[in-house]
Amino acid sequence: MKNLALENRAIKFDDVVGQKEIVKGIRSKIVTNSLSNVLLFKGPTGTGKTTLAFLTAMALNCKNLQADGNPCCVCDSCKSIINQSFNRDVILFDGSTLSAKSEVIDLFSTIDSPPLFDKNKVIIIEEADQLSEGAKNSFLKIFERRLNNVYFILLSMKFKGIPDAIQSRCQVYNFSYLSIQELMFALKNLLEKENLWNSSEIPEDFKFAGLGLISSLAKGSLREAVQTLERCITEKIFDNEGITKIVQGVDEATVDAILGKIVKKDLSFVEDILEYKDFFEIYTLVYTFVQKVIIYAKTSYSSSTSDYFNKKLAYYANNHFPLFNSLLAIFDEIQKTNFIYGKSASLNFVLKVLSLLEGDTQQLKRMR
Ligand SMILES: Nc1ncnc2c1ncn2[C@@H]1O[C@H](COP(=O)(O)OP(=O)(O)OP(=O)(O)O)[C@@H](O)[C@H]1O
Ligand SMILES: [Mg+2]
Ligand SMILES: [Zn+2]
Repeated sequence: MKNLALENRAIKFDDVVGQKEIVKGIRSKIVTNSLSNVLLFKGPTGTGKTTLAFLTAMALNCKNLQADGNPCCVCDSCKSIINQSFNRDVILFDGSTLSAKSEVIDLFSTIDSPPLFDKNKVIIIEEADQLSEGAKNSFLKIFERRLNNVYFILLSMKFKGIPDAIQSRCQVYNFSYLSIQELMFALKNLLEKENLWNSSEIPEDFKFAGLGLISSLAKGSLREAVQTLERCITEKIFDNEGITKIVQGVDEATVDAILGKIVKKDLSFVEDILEYKDFFEIYTLVYTFVQKVIIYAKTSYSSSTSDYFNKKLAYYANNHFPLFNSLLAIFDEIQKTNFIYGKSASLNFVLKVLSLLEGDTQQLKRMR
């Protein structure tokens, strides 16, 4: 079972999970040919923005659009989107890389020529909030014009990432977090589709308690829920504790144990970090916590709503600020050397930690 999330991208409006009002609206506008030319899909990660952008593009260009607004999924135009070759009139851009002026000019010069293969040109911009200022201005000018047979679909995870001037020219669709029920239902459907629902591979209680837990830990994202499910099945993890560990990655107890060793200057914490099953994960977690302690020590600011977490922050900030402050310097050094991408033990790293615990960050700087 490989990459369920991507292999099961919805290719009919009926297959979209949740986002009912959005689907209904787009579908009926497709049927009545009244969809506005500039759409903005805004919302959290993994909730169907890209999926629905592809579907909308399919419906706009399908050679045999169904009466109910669904694309046929078999014509050349539909197929080029389903297999993501994008070699016809649907073009996919990434806002974070579409920044060079020449690229933007190229893009806009294609707008004036008619579509080559299909009814419409559809330009999908992922991460539209990351467009350069220049690109945003160019878009603004384009959106003021009358657009014939050209559609733009801008996608953004940020609530405020797109300037009001642009938003006011878009039909804005706000995507919501998917509910636990919607996620559970989608996971059940997926298992049925993969012929796993009735297989002996999957314990009965996992089908309800397990899927429920996966869904409640997925932060409203179907992508996240499906990825967790995939790991549960491939690693045969069906108990609640195991599922929670998969989602949270590193369990809190491990981070706590490492911090405890750091403040006791117990060097074996280096080993704990290096030996952990996912070095990058634990490194990031410890590093993030160290940063939070420093911010808390300086400003008393915490973004957490958990009392337990805030108490922990306060404890380390009040009692171990100097140590954490030099830890931060060490972590910065490590990052500069790009060590974290190596994912393996490095003598340099151990030396740096040693000299930190000697309390000599000056020496550390000289060592580099
Ligand atoms: N509402 C949904 N309906 C059907 N499938 C969905 C939905 N949301 C997510 N998925 C599934 O999760 C995967 C990720 O969804 P998609 O790429 O549409 O999310 P997104 O909102 O664009 O996320 P991001 O902001 O991270 O790009 C898809 O491959 C799809 O299988
Ligand atoms: Mg997306
Ligand atoms: Zn079609």
